[in-house]
Amino acid sequence: MLTAAGSGTRLGREIPKAFVPVGGVPMIALAARGLADSGAVDAVVVTSPPGRAADMVAALGALPIPVEVVDGGSTRQASVAAGLRRADASTDVVLVHDAARPLAPPALVARVVAAVRSGHPAVVPGLPVTDTIKRVAPDAGAPAPPGDDTTPVVERVVDTLDRTVLRAVQTPQGFDRELLQRAHAEGAARAAAEHLAATDDAGLVEALGVPVHLVRGDSAALKITTPYDLAVAELLLEGR
Ligand code: CTP
Ligand code: MG
Repeated sequence: MLTAAGSGTRLGREIPKAFVPVGGVPMIALAARGLADSGAVDAVVVTSPPGRAADMVAALGALPIPVEVVDGGSTRQASVAAGLRRADASTDVVLVHDAARPLAPPALVARVVAAVRSGHPAVVPGLPVTDTIKRVAPDAGAPAPPGDDTTPVVERVVDTLDRTVLRAVQTPQGFDRELLQRAHAEGAARAAAEHLAATDDAGLVEALGVPVHLVRGDSAALKITTPYDLAVAELLLEGR
């Protein structure tokens, strides 16, 4: 499944992020090709901004595997849940991949699928963290910077995490289909109760107490969130 129902607020374009081109090709088309080129994906369900299904089909272009477009929800978690409703009993493994990671290499896709097929019901790609990561507490009374009403200017450092045991997690994430559907059913109830949606599918599986495993990620699978990320992706694609 490709999640592509987001608007791309932080990228700041007029059009939804999945339609924004990288190297002249819409992100959603690049992401779908990456899945198809892995040889490990039989079909794709794309979650689209509601009402934009026809534009999504046009942006996807021709692909060697069947594609179905469904309306996404108001959060990523709700969008994935909508896509999962299209997965039938004949599907044993489901991948969830962000259209916002259009350069994820086919070999990464294949690695995740292989790990699920070798008996791991939930698999995420991840990379060691290179920055030192500190936990902070917001400093009450600090003014919010212009254009962002959520991040205080000044935050107090609480502690420094041990970087060696941290991983930055990417997509595609791979799952036993039944397990992921169960995780989303439970996750939907929690999201409704706590008004907090998950940003990652593996987190919902962890909440069930089912082990999640990690395979080596790939720096090319970077997530395009800001204009800076888009510029990096353009350069990477130029170098291919
Ligand atoms: N996504 C989705 N449905 C939503 C929100 C996000 O399918 N309601 C998808 C996005 O299309 C993206 C992926 O989830 O491929 C990761 O989300 P993110 O990078 O946050 O994308 P946006 O939500 O579009 O960006 P922003 O948060 O800046 O608005
Ligand atoms: Mg978002």
